[in-house]
Amino acid sequence: MKRRQTASLVLTMAMLMASPLSWAQNTGKLKIGFMLPATGTYASLGTAIENGFRLYLSEQGGKLAGRELEFVSVDDESDPSKATDNVNKLIKRDNVDVIIGSVHSGVAMAMAKAAKESGTILIVPNAGAQAVTGPMCAMNIFRSSFSNWQPGYAMGEIAAKKGNKRIVTITWKYAAGEETMKGFKDGFEQNGGTIIKDLSLPFPNVEFQALLTEIASLKPDAVFTFFAGGGAVKFVKDYSAAGLKKKIPLYGSGFLTDGTLDAEGSDAEGILTTLHYADNLNNKRDQSFRLAYAKTYKLQPDVYAVQGYDAAQMLSIGLNATKGDPKNINGFAQALRAAKIDSPRGAFTLSSSHNPVQDIYLRKVVGKENILEGVAHKSLADPGLGCKM
Ligand code: PHB
Repeated sequence: MKRRQTASLVLTMAMLMASPLSWAQNTGKLKIGFMLPATGTYASLGTAIENGFRLYLSEQGGKLAGRELEFVSVDDESDPSKATDNVNKLIKRDNVDVIIGSVHSGVAMAMAKAAKESGTILIVPNAGAQAVTGPMCAMNIFRSSFSNWQPGYAMGEIAAKKGNKRIVTITWKYAAGEETMKGFKDGFEQNGGTIIKDLSLPFPNVEFQALLTEIASLKPDAVFTFFAGGGAVKFVKDYSAAGLKKKIPLYGSGFLTDGTLDAEGSDAEGILTTLHYADNLNNKRDQSFRLAYAKTYKLQPDVYAVQGYDAAQMLSIGLNATKGDPKNINGFAQALRAAKIDSPRGAFTLSSSHNPVQDIYLRKVVGKENILEGVAHKSLADPGLGCKM
């Protein structure tokens, strides 16, 4: 054997021997940890997210960046007090490469803290807590959904433009409700409106009666609300049963009527909401997504399914750019920061704090669908306040 050949053979062998672990890590199975609610008022949201996520994976032949995948799951019960223990099960006990979760803002904040400390890639497929892409932002944390502020702000602008002057808000008293109301207030008051009262009750309480009585006596021009999942269904039904639907227009961030219309029935008819998805967007990407989702799950998709699907697309983009190495956080982040994500909602990019910059649509409930009325705010970016990276 010639000297040069011998040298290169020795070098190759040395490289293989020097990094058997990282070589195995990037070619062996990639471990994905789901931390989503499987019980409680947000259970169906968790299911839709996982369905969407798995649909994208099956379209890729069940592999990402050439790596086979394995999964572990924890039911986070949408309970922030259990979130640190739950996320540490995934990071420390199960040694996952990537975490996908969660729905509830309080849970997601605990997850972001643990992900930031451990350097594990975290993709948030719903929870809108502003801290996640604000003060807690990090190179390894991404969101495929929205910030709570975004749909609220867009509806504030619309409500003012429709001539409403005095509005009452009602929501659950935790980050998602409070931040959505803040977004609404910003959009509404910048355009000449006044919030005359902020009403709230603890999550996931659904005893709305006393608050509905108060709304009736305040006689606002309209009501703006954030509720989601099972709580949204109860609120829409109670608002109608209290006789308010005919008298005082109800506006919402779109979660009020997304994934909930079968249960809300005619009590939801005509409700206007703002969100980054609608049921009849009619772009090619959305049409094929909806068809595949309906075929696979015998269900219509909703915004949560889209966010799950896009979380998987984002993971795929990051892994392809790093040859399957989720420890290469800079490479992973640079790819996503440069990406245009081809979502069923319409293509979106990520802000420098890793939150979607996206169109927010105005939708109206017609039968069992949230029908597009128009774009409420084009390419809306969360301000990302407090993010330093
Ligand atoms: C949240 O807690 O951030 C949250 C939960 C459910 C939604 C939207 C936001 O539908």
